[in-house]
Amino acid sequence: MPLLQLVYASRPFGFDAGTLINILFKARSKNAAADVTGCLICRDDIYLQMLEGPAEGVARIYEKIIQDDRHVEVTELVRHEVTDRMFGKWAMRDDPVQSWMWTREEVDRGDVSRASKDDVLRVFNKLAAQPSEPT
Ligand SMILES: Cc1cc2nc3c(=O)[nH]c(=O)nc-3n(C[C@H](O)[C@H](O)[C@H](O)COP(=O)(O)O)c2cc1C
Repeated sequence: MPLLQLVYASRPFGFDAGTLINILFKARSKNAAADVTGCLICRDDIYLQMLEGPAEGVARIYEKIIQDDRHVEVTELVRHEVTDRMFGKWAMRDDPVQSWMWTREEVDRGDVSRASKDDVLRVFNKLAAQPSEPT
């Protein structure tokens, strides 16, 4: 069955450890129930999230996310059908922004929002190849 893979970037509003824990706790239980998996790359200046799974479930969750006031400037970067998941083992993996991704200056300049689909997918692909305990 074809899967929808969707990636957006946004700017955190009120980012702190407690907020992130709450987001991930809720995300993991709701995603698991909808057979949605993915990865949330986060830092106090950016969220970059991949959602993947049955199209209806991904779209419904994304609609909720767009309306969430814990972030602003949600910019959709990728929306396409895929046959394989990148983060099939994770209801929502979380990772910090790493040095090979984007500097604060690049994020501030808007480089992530203007990144090509291939560039964005390359970041997630590279991350998916790095080991991490499923959560
Ligand atoms: C950056 C960010 C990422 C989020 N990721 C997810 C997610 O993967 N799955 C999810 O269900 N909710 C996620 N949420 C939370 C949703 O916006 C929403 O609060 C949640 O789905 C609860 O919906 P409810 O009001 O129906 O309970 C995220 C929120 C933010 C700010």
